Amino acid sequence: MARQYLITAALPYANGYIHLGHVAGAYLPADMFARFLRLSGERVLYVCGSDEHGVAITIRAEQEGKTPRQIVDHYHHANRAAFEQFGMSFDVYGRTSSPEHHQLAQEWFLDFYHRGLLDEREELQFFDDDAGMFLPDRYVEGTCPYCGYDRARGDQCEQCGAYYNQLELKNPRSLISGKAPSVRPTRHWYFRLSQFQKALEQYIAAREHTWKENVLQQARAWLKQGLEDRAITRDLQWGVPVPLPNAEGKVLYVWFEALLGYISATQQWARERGTPDAWQQWWLRSSEHDTFYAAFIGKDNIVFHTLMFPAMLMARDGYILPENVPANEFLNLEGQKFSKSRNWSIDLQDALADFPHSHHRDALRYALAMNLPETRDADFTWSDFQARTNNELAAIVGNYANRVIAFLARNFQGRVPVLDAADAEFPARWEQVARQAASQPSSQVAATIAAATEYFSAEERAVIAAVINGTRTIAQHYHAFRFRDAVSETINLARAANKFFNDAAPWKTLTDNPAQCARTLFTCVQVLRAIGIALAPVTPNLSESIQRLCGITQPITGKANDGQAGDNVWSTIPLPLVEQGTPTGPPQRLIEPIPDATIAAQKAKLGVQQETTSAATDTHKDEPSTPQITIEEFGRIALRTARVIAAERIPKSQKLLRLVVDLGDEQRQIVAGIGKHYAPEELIGLDVVVVANLKPARLMGVESHGMLLAANSGEQLVLVSPRGPIPPGSVVK
Ligand code: 2FM
Ligand code: ZN
Repeated sequence: MARQYLITAALPYANGYIHLGHVAGAYLPADMFARFLRLSGERVLYVCGSDEHGVAITIRAEQEGKTPRQIVDHYHHANRAAFEQFGMSFDVYGRTSSPEHHQLAQEWFLDFYHRGLLDEREELQFFDDDAGMFLPDRYVEGTCPYCGYDRARGDQCEQCGAYYNQLELKNPRSLISGKAPSVRPTRHWYFRLSQFQKALEQYIAAREHTWKENVLQQARAWLKQGLEDRAITRDLQWGVPVPLPNAEGKVLYVWFEALLGYISATQQWARERGTPDAWQQWWLRSSEHDTFYAAFIGKDNIVFHTLMFPAMLMARDGYILPENVPANEFLNLEGQKFSKSRNWSIDLQDALADFPHSHHRDALRYALAMNLPETRDADFTWSDFQARTNNELAAIVGNYANRVIAFLARNFQGRVPVLDAADAEFPARWEQVARQAASQPSSQVAATIAAATEYFSAEERAVIAAVINGTRTIAQHYHAFRFRDAVSETINLARAANKFFNDAAPWKTLTDNPAQCARTLFTCVQVLRAIGIALAPVTPNLSESIQRLCGITQPITGKANDGQAGDNVWSTIPLPLVEQGTPTGPPQRLIEPIPDATIAAQKAKLGVQQETTSAATDTHKDEPSTPQITIEEFGRIALRTARVIAAERIPKSQKLLRLVVDLGDEQRQIVAGIGKHYAPEELIGLDVVVVANLKPARLMGVESHGMLLAANSGEQLVLVSPRGPIPPGSVVK
């Protein structure tokens, strides 16, 4: 039976833009997994799409004065485009508002209904008399029956985490009219989840050695509590209508039908390629395919993917089940939770606009991959992004590529060196070792390479071993869903490459021993190719550029391949396949370092809400006269000269400028309220006087560390500046 991989990533709600936290939660790891497997020659189908129903969407529509349709159309297209630009290699990106999805979801509901898996129950629910509608859980707030938190939602308290029935809320109020709701009877259909308790226990137990601990723990906790039947219908207008008579105004519960969105998206893929039944090869058990299904999600989706969805799939005979649900924990941003309302967030589309170069976008993928919240919450910081881009991708990978390609351009007419006759066997010997190692367990590889002593130099053995072992280890990490480790190992490969270049010192052998120099550079190109391909899952654009530098005209980066098997390129990584004489280059800087000012500007955007009235240099003419102070008191104020090295306006503020100043021994960011009096450009290079020991503060969410002195007449505002040239950081007394 042929192995194949079905990969899904949680369908994002089409009620807002994707942010980097979402990306790190599910989409990036899933994409890395998909690309790695395709590079390994596997059949892969990577499925995603928009989740377009549910209360989150109707609430957003009300907030924006639009229809739900307008909302989902907008965000579906925006998110899809952002994902594409970020290199997500989806085979299909579906949407749950499509007629085909509606049809599929209704068919599943009816199937369950006719087979007695649904229980119709009459129950009481809050009703808004003014709006004339039942209130789904998110439309009602009240006091938590457990902890007393007074803004608890209808189904769950954000403060203490308790789940309850909405009727248990104290002092309930409708979020539509603001009034206390009445209570009315309504009918709903419950999925008999409790019937699947045993089967789900077995399902989870069978995966206890392969699933991540955080996922197992949550699933087990729910099972321990005992699964309860769950209502899979709601009283709402927007959604998949309940396909039964007398069910007007009722739709399928968003979670019930969104999970089926994975299947309807696969059907869309099959239809669009002209083989409408081909979706079955991915979702149904068959004697032809052994499908490994991995469902990538964030931790808030665990219960639905480890229990609810498997139960639904079990209920329909013949469907496969998720083989792994590698849920990630949450990503924080600069030490705080992502929050759109506090503008403490980075939307993917904004990051793409700010970093238009494909290699910088890759650098963002790389920085996120190195910080994936795989086992615990992780933190993304702009400084870390800068450090990883400049000190790792540029300084290790980019630098190595440039050293090799520039050396070839200067000394070998921009071609892979032709080996000396005495070295004619070198590529074949190398290939032999690599092939032998590939068929051996890891423990024997070192011996195989060591045995090649007589043919390879110590430096060659070291770098060939690094490539052989690295490729193997990286693959093991990908298969075990350890993506951070996979990427770290990939960078280690580039570290080993730089070491080889240093140790082999081709600039010396160029004149003393040209044959040796040719052999060194031949090796370097092979290793550069290896790094290029190994990087493809995480930085596909950079990978493509590196492969082109090595003269590969059809680079392989694990792009979507229509669910077909391809060549196993991964297994060729350790082989010296770039032919002698192949044209290489041209030399180029692959990754431009990210300057401090760019990072400061990104940080400055966080938390910016609206115009504030206070500004750093605000002074008021009519302040009461200030009391006298002693010379000691004045001495507590550290006044220093400083030179402005960067200045820009803070978005949405007329008054505030963000400055970076040089204080001699350090650089500082200062927010100054001088935007109405000075243009940022005229400040660059200017010497000013700052209060250097002012406690840091935030202005419009931007950290300000220090204050500029300015004279203020009420109408005029003029910066205080030393009269003559003086080094930055000089004391002002
Ligand atoms: O949490 C979310 O963003 C959900 N829209 C995920 C749905 S996953 C699946 F059910 F589609
Ligand atoms: Zn509570």
